[in-house]
Amino acid sequence: MKVINKKSFGSFLSFIRVIHVRVAVLTCMLFMLSACDLESSTEIETSSDNLTTREILELPDHMPTPYVPDFNPLTNAKIQLGRFLFYETMLSANQAQSCASCHDQSLAFSDGVAQPLGSTGHQLVRNSQSLVNVIYYSTLTWSNDTFLELEDQLNVPIRADNPVELGVTDDELEEVLQRFEDDHEYLAMFTTAFPDSDSSVTMNKIIFSLASFVRTMISASSPYDKYLAGDKTALTAQEIEGYQLFNGEKFECFHCHSGINFSSSYRDANKATDAIEFPFFNNGLYNVGGDGSYPEEDQGLYDLSLDPADKGLFRPQSLRNIELTAPYMHDGSIATLREVIEHYARGGTLTGSGVNAGDGKNSPLKSVLIPGFDATDEEIDAVIAFLEALTDEEFITSSKFSNPFEE
Ligand code: HEC
Ligand code: HEC
Repeated sequence: MKVINKKSFGSFLSFIRVIHVRVAVLTCMLFMLSACDLESSTEIETSSDNLTTREILELPDHMPTPYVPDFNPLTNAKIQLGRFLFYETMLSANQAQSCASCHDQSLAFSDGVAQPLGSTGHQLVRNSQSLVNVIYYSTLTWSNDTFLELEDQLNVPIRADNPVELGVTDDELEEVLQRFEDDHEYLAMFTTAFPDSDSSVTMNKIIFSLASFVRTMISASSPYDKYLAGDKTALTAQEIEGYQLFNGEKFECFHCHSGINFSSSYRDANKATDAIEFPFFNNGLYNVGGDGSYPEEDQGLYDLSLDPADKGLFRPQSLRNIELTAPYMHDGSIATLREVIEHYARGGTLTGSGVNAGDGKNSPLKSVLIPGFDATDEEIDAVIAFLEALTDEEFITSSKFSNPFEE
C-alpha cells in the first residue's frame, strides 16, 4: 500500500515546500521560516480554556475525536478572532475580498461557480472547495500530498501571487498587518488570543487563528447523522436503499468516499502519528490524447511530482452537504449530482471535441475502482436521495460560523 510518510514532510515548523498549481513557487517561504523561529516558543500554548477539544467543538458522540496539532491548540479566543478574519476584507491586499468571497456558509462554504476569480480578477483553475469537516482530512486541497497542516495550506489563499487570491505578497504584507495594528478592537482580540506573545500582529497569528476557526466548521447534524446516532426514522426507505447502494460492490462509492467523512483522506486523534494512506485517485474525468493526461492547466498531483503516473490524481472530496456545492469536481466541470453518477456509471467522462478531447472511460491511468456499471433510474434516484440526506441545515445556518459583522 502506498503511504504518505509524514517524516519526509515534517511539521509546520520544519516545512520547506509550498507549491501551488502549475508549480508556482511562493515567495513567502523566507518570511514564514524566520517568523516561525521567532514565534514558535511564544505561540505554542496549552488550551487556556481548560476545555477538551471535544468540548470546544461540541462534538456529538458518533464523531471521532479529531486531530489538532500540538503547536496550535484550540482556544475560544483564537476561534473568535479567526471568525472575524474569515469575513474580513482588510485581509486582501486591495480590500476587495475575504475568505468568505469564495467560501459562503449558505453553500457549505463553497461558492457556486466552476472556477472563482481572485481579488484582482485573476481566474483560478480550481473549484472552490466546501469547508466541511476539514479537520478530518489528512491532506488538504484537491490534490497535494505535502499540505498536511492547515497552517501550511492557508498561506496559499492569503499570500500566493500566481494565481492571486487575497494577494498579500511580500510587497503588501507590512501594509496589511498595519491595518490590523491600527484597529483597537483587533489589537485587543490578538492580545487575548495570543496572551503569551507581544502585542504585535503577525501573519502567523492570523493564520493560526484562521486555522482554528476552520477546524470548528464541523457538520454532524444531517439526517444521516441522526440515523447514525440511533434515530432509525431519520432516513426514508429510499435514502436507506441509496445508502446501501453507495456502500455496495456495484456502485463502489465507499472505497474512495469512505468512513465518517466520506473521504479516503482521513485522520483523527488516534491516527495522526501513523503513516497516512495515499488518498488520491484518477476517476476518469479526462483522457486527453489517449495517454491518461488531464487538461494542461491542471493535471492534479502530477503538477507537483512530474511523475506521469500521477496525472489526474485528485483527493476524493467529502460528500457531506454535497447537494449545496455544485458544480462538481476539481474544475467544476460537472453540473449536477445526476451527471456525477452518470459519469461513474459510464466508467468515465467523454469529452467529444476541443483540445481536451478524449474518453476518460479508456484512460490507462483510471482507478480500477471505476469500471462502470448498469444502474436503473430508480437506483440513481436512491443514491441521490441518500447524498441529499447528508445536507446539514444546522451547519449552514449556525451563528457559530456566520458573518460576525452582520450581527
Ligand atoms: C478566490 C477564491 C478563494 C479565496 C478568496 C479563498 N479560497 Fe480557500 N479555496 C479556494 C479554492 C479554489 C480551493 C481549492 C484549492 C486547491 O485545490 O488548490 C480552496 C481551498 C481551501 C481550503 C482547503 C480545504 C480542503 O478541504 O482541503 C481551505 C482550508 C481554504 N480554502 C480556506 C480558505 C481561507 C481561510 C481563506 C481566507 C484566508 C480562503 N480559503 C480564501 C478558493 C478561495
Ligand atoms: C476510485 C475512487 C472513487 C470512487 C470509486 C468514487 N469516487 Fe467520487 N471522487 C473521487 C475523486 C478522486 C474525486 C475528485 C475528482 C476530481 O475532482 O477530478 C471524486 C469526486 C466526486 C464528487 C464531486 C465532489 C465535489 O465536491 O465536487 C462526487 C459527488 C462523487 N465523487 C460521488 C461519488 C459517487 C456517488 C460514487 C459512487 C458511484 C463515487 N464518487 C465513486 C474518487 C472516487
